[in-house]
Amino acid sequence: MQADEPQTIRWGREKGQFGGAGGAGVIERGSVSPASAAAAHRRWWDEHAREYLAEHGDALANRLQWGPEGVSEAELGLMGAVAGRTILEVGSGAGQCSQWLRSQGAHVIASDISLEMLRAGDPGLLRVQADGFLLPFADQSVDITFSSYGALPFLPDAPAVLREWARVTRDLVIFSVTHPMRWALLDDPEDLTISRSYFDRNAYIERNDKHEVTYTEHHRTIGDWVGAIVSAGMSLEQIVEPEWPDRNTETWGAWSPARGKLIPGTAIFVAKVK
Ligand SMILES: C[S@@+](CC[C@H](N)C(=O)[O-])C[C@H]1O[C@@H](n2cnc3c(N)ncnc32)[C@H](O)[C@@H]1O
Repeated sequence: MQADEPQTIRWGREKGQFGGAGGAGVIERGSVSPASAAAAHRRWWDEHAREYLAEHGDALANRLQWGPEGVSEAELGLMGAVAGRTILEVGSGAGQCSQWLRSQGAHVIASDISLEMLRAGDPGLLRVQADGFLLPFADQSVDITFSSYGALPFLPDAPAVLREWARVTRDLVIFSVTHPMRWALLDDPEDLTISRSYFDRNAYIERNDKHEVTYTEHHRTIGDWVGAIVSAGMSLEQIVEPEWPDRNTETWGAWSPARGKLIPGTAIFVAKVK
């Protein structure tokens, strides 16, 4: 079987965390190449940028939040003091996190694969269109590389992506993703039934009626993430699982207070470049 030929398994009432096949599309489980995942996501996020920002723009504005729980860098301080440091955001979307870091005195570059997401950002922010798998930056050119739910959930080869992030970084790589245990649940904010194996690494893939890949998501267990960090030559400093705060009564896709009070929805990994 070629890398882009997934097993055709149709999954009942399933949808991706941001995607949702609909129409004539099919949903499959299998594998895709980094190139076809990147091409799909460039199109998908360009087409959905306006809708995503209309729905979540207010919640994201003027802060660096690590996930739908609404827990922020101002609260957690995972980066330490940022004034004067050079910081790269990968999968920045419209760059709200970068904008906040800039307001704290950091030198910031916001990068994303989607031009439409970047275009929605502040014109004063340095923005670079780039695939998180292949960054157009020199070795050790930034102090910190980070991402809040950007690029990594949508790219198949996490160890290779993290090697690339470690290559350009002098100090810390920090990223948040959907907590791995959520993969075992449906993307339904109220449902707590375990519906598939936590250990199933087959990617979630949407295709259109021409069989082209249009959207993907990739699962790694906690152990896989730790292994990817170590194999990228970094040491793991912390895994943070933010608890759902009482102040947040909003549902964001499959993340809700109902689930968030019982199980983690986000995992934040803090890794040190050796
Ligand atoms: C859920 S959004 C998160 C954006 C931002 N951090 C936020 O919280 O709004 C995911 C972002 O990842 C970007 N993305 C997807 N695949 C990517 C890739 N291969 N390289 C870089 N960015 C990618 C998308 O364009 C999108 O802007």
